[in-house]
Amino acid sequence: MSRLVVISNRLADPRKPAAGGLAVALGEALNQTGGLWFGWSGNVVEGGTPGEGELHTRQAGAVTLATVDLCREDHDSYYHGYSNSVLWPVFHYRLDLADFNASYIAGYRRVNQMFARKLLPLLREDDILWVHDYHLIPLAAELRAMGCKQRIGFFLHIPMPPPLIMAAIPQHEWLMRSLFAYDLVGLQSEADVSHFTRYVRNEGSAEEVDAQRLRAFGGTVQVQAFPIGIDVDEFTRLTHAPDAVETYENMRDEYSRRRLLLGIDRLDYSKGIPHRVRAFRELLDRYPENRDSATLIMIASPTRDDVNAYADLRQELEGLCGAVNGDYGELDWMPVRYIHRMVARKRVPGLCRAAAVGLVTPLRDGMNLVAKEYVVAQDPDDPGVLVLSRFAGAAEQLKEALLVNPYDTQGMADSIQQALQMPLAERQARHQKLMARLREHDVHWWRKSFLNALQTADD
Ligand code: G6P
Repeated sequence: MSRLVVISNRLADPRKPAAGGLAVALGEALNQTGGLWFGWSGNVVEGGTPGEGELHTRQAGAVTLATVDLCREDHDSYYHGYSNSVLWPVFHYRLDLADFNASYIAGYRRVNQMFARKLLPLLREDDILWVHDYHLIPLAAELRAMGCKQRIGFFLHIPMPPPLIMAAIPQHEWLMRSLFAYDLVGLQSEADVSHFTRYVRNEGSAEEVDAQRLRAFGGTVQVQAFPIGIDVDEFTRLTHAPDAVETYENMRDEYSRRRLLLGIDRLDYSKGIPHRVRAFRELLDRYPENRDSATLIMIASPTRDDVNAYADLRQELEGLCGAVNGDYGELDWMPVRYIHRMVARKRVPGLCRAAAVGLVTPLRDGMNLVAKEYVVAQDPDDPGVLVLSRFAGAAEQLKEALLVNPYDTQGMADSIQQALQMPLAERQARHQKLMARLREHDVHWWRKSFLNALQTADD
C-alpha cells in the first residue's frame, strides 16, 4: 500500500478529542499507511524572511506531522490576502467583497513554492499525495516543476464558481491551468463539476477524453464530485457522551417553555447570518404566536478577524440582534441569544438535540457539515427539523430538509413556521430518509472513494 501524504493549510492532531470528523477520517487513513501530514504550523514569525520558514516535525502515533512557520509578510499576503480576500469571496460569488490587491499573488505563489520545496525531500517514490483546499491550488504545479512524479489529488472544500465569476480574478487562467498538474480534482457537488467543465470548455477549449476526464491547457485531468460527509458513528457516540447529554438536559430545563432554533457557524459573510436574523424577525411579526416562545440561539465563532469584511459583518449582526431583542423582547424572554465565541465540540450534539429547528442558511457554501451534524444529533423518536439553504452543497443530498432561499425573507419565515408546526409523523419520516443518506455517504465513504479514484486515475 502506498504511503498517504496529506497537505493542507491547517493541521489537526487526529488523536485529540477536539479534532473534527474530517481530521479523524484523514488521520485514520494516515495511520493505516504510517502517513505524513504537511502544512502551516500556525506560527507567524515577526521579521522573518519571505519565502522562508522553519520546518518542524513530530510524531502523532503512526502519523508524522510536518509543519512550516510563515513570516508576517507571507502570512498577510498568502492567508489574509490572496486566500481569504480574493479566492474565498470570489469562490463564494462575492465579487463585491473581493480585494484584488496586486501584491497578494506574489505571497500566494511564494508560500506554495516554499511548501513544495520543503515537502519534496520528505517524499518517497511510491507516495500518494492529497492536497486540500483553495490555499494550495498551485502546489502540484510547483511540485511538478521540481520533478515530483507521484500521483497527486486535489480536493476543493469550497464552491467552484461559474466561469464568468471565476474570470473576475486577474490570474484566473493561471489558477485553472495549475489544476491540470493534478491527476484528480475532487469537488463537492455536481453543480461545481459543471462550473469547472464549462470554464475549461470556454476558456481552455477543453476536449472531453471520457465522461470524467478533460484535456486542456496541454494536460489531462480527471474531475469528479465527492460530496464530503461526516463520521456518523463518531457523532452518534458524541451525542450520547456525558458532556452532550448534560448540555442537552441543561438546555431543556432552561428553555422548558420555549421552542429553540439553532444556528452554529463561523462568523463568515457566506453563512447568511444577518439574513437569518431578518427571517426570524419576520417570523415573530407574521406569526405572533411565536412571541414569548421561539428563541433563536446563534453561535457565531470568531474567524479571520483581520480581514475588513469580517469586522463589518460583526457590527451589522450586533445591530440586527440588538434591534430584534429591543423591539420584541420581554423581561423574561430574549428572542435572540447571540454568542460570538467558539463552542466546545463535545457540547455541539447536545445543543443540536435540544433545538426544534436547525437553521443552516448560507448564501453559498461548499457543503456545510453542521447541517449533517444537526440531523445525526436528533432523537429519532422526536426529531427536530432542518431548514437548509438551497445554496449549500448539502442541499443536493439532503432533499428531505426544508429547502429555503435565504434572500427571500418572507419565504424563509414561512418555512421556519412550517418547521415549528410539522407533525411528528412527518418529522420522523424526513429524519429517517436523511439519516439513511448520511450513513451511505459518510466521511469514510468520501475518503475511500476519492483515494480509489486517485489510485486508478489515468490507468
Ligand atoms: C473553511 C475552509 C477550510 C478552513 C476553514 C476555517 O471550512 O474550507 O479550509 O480551514 O474554513 O477557516 P480558517 O481560515 O480559520 O482556516
